[in-house]
Amino acid sequence: MTTAIATAERQGTEQAHVMAFCADSSTHTEIDRVISDLMLPHASIRKGTVKDAIKYLSHHPSPKLLMVDISGSDLPLSDIDNLADVCEPGVSVIAIGERNDCGLFRDLLHHGVTDYLVKPLSSGLLHKAISNISDETEHSKSNNKLGKLVAVMGTRGGVGATTAATSLSWIIAQQRRRKVALVDLDLQFGTVALSLDIEPSHGLREALESADRIDSLFLDRMMMEYSDRLSVISAEESPDETLLIDYAAVELLLNELRGKFHYVIVDVPRSANTCTLQVLEQATDLILVSDLSLAGMRDTMRTISFLPSLNASCKSVIVASRVGEHKSGEMPKAEFEKGIGRKVDFVLPFDAKTVASATNFGQPVAAGKGPVAKGLGDIVTRLCGSAAGSGVTQANLLSKLLGKN
Ligand SMILES: Nc1ncnc2c1ncn2[C@@H]1O[C@H](COP(=O)(O)OP(=O)(O)OP(=O)(O)O)[C@@H](O)[C@H]1O
Ligand SMILES: [Mg+2]
Repeated sequence: MTTAIATAERQGTEQAHVMAFCADSSTHTEIDRVISDLMLPHASIRKGTVKDAIKYLSHHPSPKLLMVDISGSDLPLSDIDNLADVCEPGVSVIAIGERNDCGLFRDLLHHGVTDYLVKPLSSGLLHKAISNISDETEHSKSNNKLGKLVAVMGTRGGVGATTAATSLSWIIAQQRRRKVALVDLDLQFGTVALSLDIEPSHGLREALESADRIDSLFLDRMMMEYSDRLSVISAEESPDETLLIDYAAVELLLNELRGKFHYVIVDVPRSANTCTLQVLEQATDLILVSDLSLAGMRDTMRTISFLPSLNASCKSVIVASRVGEHKSGEMPKAEFEKGIGRKVDFVLPFDAKTVASATNFGQPVAAGKGPVAKGLGDIVTRLCGSAAGSGVTQANLLSKLLGKN
């Protein structure tokens, strides 16, 4: 806890569902009164401004409802954008300030703030603002404010799906500064942990075999932190065991993760089992990786043709990988495209030297240079939008909180 943030917490170490950062004592008193009136559990009020909120939330889990004092801020909109960078999806923000300015109010809403209240704070208005948020949350619980769910699937074995999944996750987390959960759903043969040189996590099998185990705390314990923005869930179950996956648990797990992360990237096992179908049913995006082979063409075609009936809103991206590996005998890209009835979106060339050394050293390929890293960066631009302009630093809070930048 920083000394800049003098705490006036209503409770101790428990994770706060409601947090307020306010600069003066009368605002503090009003917030305290409304929290008591509404009997909001797990509330914490701290002395500080939006800048203190940014500092604090970059190292702590986000609350569901956040009140921040923007008075004294020279660039309130940019502070709100910076706040979005450190918050999890699903946070509702009430800004409190001194300027009774309609233009500022509109701009703040446009940047994703749910409400703006002017000081001196009226407990009646704050009461109403909080009640409106909980009503809205009730109504939109099922589909709003969830991170994107990106399924990455190979049409054949060894085409580079895991290479793509780990690198896409790495770029979005490290370069785009979004919170990413990378999930390896191949519990026995998955190689995500191996490719990132981390230990497999514990508990995934347990969670997927009994949905009632899945809650926020269990998830926190299950995740391996690759970095402060990239968490990994994987397993290394014995190959000779039969797993009894409860498919409701897969749905629950992904939904829980989407409430906490801007992007949930799933390395999906290729077989068309119920687990795979469950992911595809929920996915916002599918990255389908194939080599330019006849079998790859057939299975790319088959996958993209059943997807619309399973999940009409899922956007698919076709990636031709290891292109050029077989100088002769590889299907020409144009012929592959003719076969699948659409264009290949991205090409990742075969580059044994760069990719193999990255894989063997447990480094994401995208952390290095070369045409494969460049191609993976282009896929991220398709998924997240460009890094410049409306991208990371200037994208508004709403799109970031919704994982839609
Ligand atoms: N563009 C590429 N150029 C050269 N080698 C590559 C390329 N992409 C992946 N590889 C290598 O191919 C091997 C398989 O890659 P990866 O594990 O990503 O494939 P996969 O589709 O996930 O395989 P699996 O079917 O086993 O899950 C790895 O050794 C990796 O280093
Ligand atoms: Mg793989």
